Amino acid sequence: MEKDRIRVAIMASGFGSNASALIEFSKNTLCSYEIVVCISNKENPGVKRVANKNAIPFEYCPALQETQEDNKGSISLQLLLQAYKIDVIALSGYLKLISPEIIFMFQDRILNIHPSLLPKYGGKGMYGIKVHNAVLQDSNKETGASVHLVNEKYDEGRILGSSRIIINENCSVNELNEKVKKVENILYPDILNNYCKQFYSHS
Ligand code: GRF
Repeated sequence: MEKDRIRVAIMASGFGSNASALIEFSKNTLCSYEIVVCISNKENPGVKRVANKNAIPFEYCPALQETQEDNKGSISLQLLLQAYKIDVIALSGYLKLISPEIIFMFQDRILNIHPSLLPKYGGKGMYGIKVHNAVLQDSNKETGASVHLVNEKYDEGRILGSSRIIINENCSVNELNEKVKKVENILYPDILNNYCKQFYSHS
């Protein structure tokens, strides 16, 4: 009998290259997870096109834009996650902090990808080009991408895996961004697939 795959929600607000890579990987019948919904705090992000192209529901959740104090975002998100029977959340270019309630409900079941070798160059305000600029400014010889579990603090959850790249001399910030994105798009599906197997084998 075929087992049910682990139901994953992608939360993203950007371009969507990692969302696309996660979805492509899940088309392999041996993959342990399936992407059942893409959720965003933005109305029209690149990830919406990725979801539409793959006939995956896209949910715009404007309440996620609100401040955490009024709790509306957290409640709307909980309702969505329940409606889609979500087991695991994959953050993929989602910049807002996840509320403590959701972190509690999904303990060790929220993953994120970050464009550096964590714990270096992580934390509040460190995202996208800002990370690569800092890496270049410090004359690093290498950088990479990391996949980690999400807790209450930006980029501080347990690291599940990382990929390294060498920084060539005179590498521009855009070149670095492209190079890191390429390794991210390979690393994230691989880690998510392996991580979901633990839930899969217990089901
Ligand atoms: C990636 O660089 C990821 O590390 C970070 O946000 C970016 C999202 O890129 N968390 P994309 O939207 O998946 O192309």
